[in-house]
Amino acid sequence: MLHLRGMKLKNDLLLRTIGGETVERPPVWLMRQAGRILPQYRALRAKLSGFIELVRTPELAAEVTIQPVDELNVDAAIIFSDILVIPEAMGLPYEMVEKRGPLFPNTISSQTDIERLTSGTPAADELNYVYEAIRITKRELAGRVPLIGFCGAPWTILSYMVEGSGSKTFSKARRFLIQHPEAAHQLLDKITETSIAYLKKKIEAGVNLVQIFDSWAGILSPSLYREFALPYISRMCESIQAVPKIVFAKGAWFALPEFGQLDCEAVGLDWTVEPSWGRAQLGTQQVIQGNLDPCALYGAHDQVRTATLELINKLDARHIVNLGHGVYPDTPLDSVRTFVQTVQNYRYS
Ligand code: CP3
Repeated sequence: MLHLRGMKLKNDLLLRTIGGETVERPPVWLMRQAGRILPQYRALRAKLSGFIELVRTPELAAEVTIQPVDELNVDAAIIFSDILVIPEAMGLPYEMVEKRGPLFPNTISSQTDIERLTSGTPAADELNYVYEAIRITKRELAGRVPLIGFCGAPWTILSYMVEGSGSKTFSKARRFLIQHPEAAHQLLDKITETSIAYLKKKIEAGVNLVQIFDSWAGILSPSLYREFALPYISRMCESIQAVPKIVFAKGAWFALPEFGQLDCEAVGLDWTVEPSWGRAQLGTQQVIQGNLDPCALYGAHDQVRTATLELINKLDARHIVNLGHGVYPDTPLDSVRTFVQTVQNYRYS
């Protein structure tokens, strides 16, 4: 299917924007657009044993990936999967507990646990169902919009592997950094090598760009973030050269000047960052992605429109419009449409 990689996209606005070209309007997509908010997703999901079955069935994952493109007309698709397939491929399977979230029956608590984990290409080879889902999605999208591949940043993946589930504080994971710094670095190294091999295989399968999600960046102190998170994201960025990269680190406003030095084309801002302040901290090299408060979509349509235009006007034309984090499951679809259409009707003067 190599010819599909070279296929010209009908809508390449996202790639032109991230490539630094002058564009007519900003592109728009939503983090966590695949699944959650769409009735079609919920209907399909209800017929299956659970989330993990959907993730592991390439035809269905492809279908769910394309649903928001059909339904919301967004400027990009993001492959339906989860960041937690990486721990699983390394030897730490997860479960998805209904209404509660991820749960790891086994967690990492010692050096021996880390030594037992598979990593790098052999681990990435376990995820053929993801690469197959990408190939099917590319074929079915037939060049309508670019396809985004993603993975978690090493620190966020470590948090789940050590903590074993979601948590308000992730204090077990943070404590691991303090009490076992060498083991933590060893684990981060293994996660990084696996994630690099994984992204490379996703790119081979056809994704046009990639995003790294550091969802738990904001719970580390700046000094811990600089020691245990940034160097690994930096290594990932340097290792991936074939496609553009977006780094989204929620809550890591303090590291924006360092993100400005990363070898990545775009940086995501969460909604607590004032866009003009974010631009000043980041510098001028990269495109900014974000950062409407996901709760803004609970407003009336004119509120959604006003907030969206305000956001566009606060930034220059090197901007990918998105939310400041994933869209919430109970967001009214009509508000999402208003958000997308407001961006798509906009023209830079
Ligand atoms: O963006 C997309 O639409 C692509 C799909 C995607 C999912 N998870 C599907 C999913 C992406 C990009 C992710 C990433 C992810 N997964 C992150 C990073 C992004 C973020 O929001 O910070 C994190 C932290 C996870 C871990 C995870 N997966 C949690 C905490 C949960 C439970 C809560 C929830 O609904 O988000 C999941 C489950 C999950 N991943 C669902 C979906 C559609 C819901 C599962 C269901 O259908 O019941």
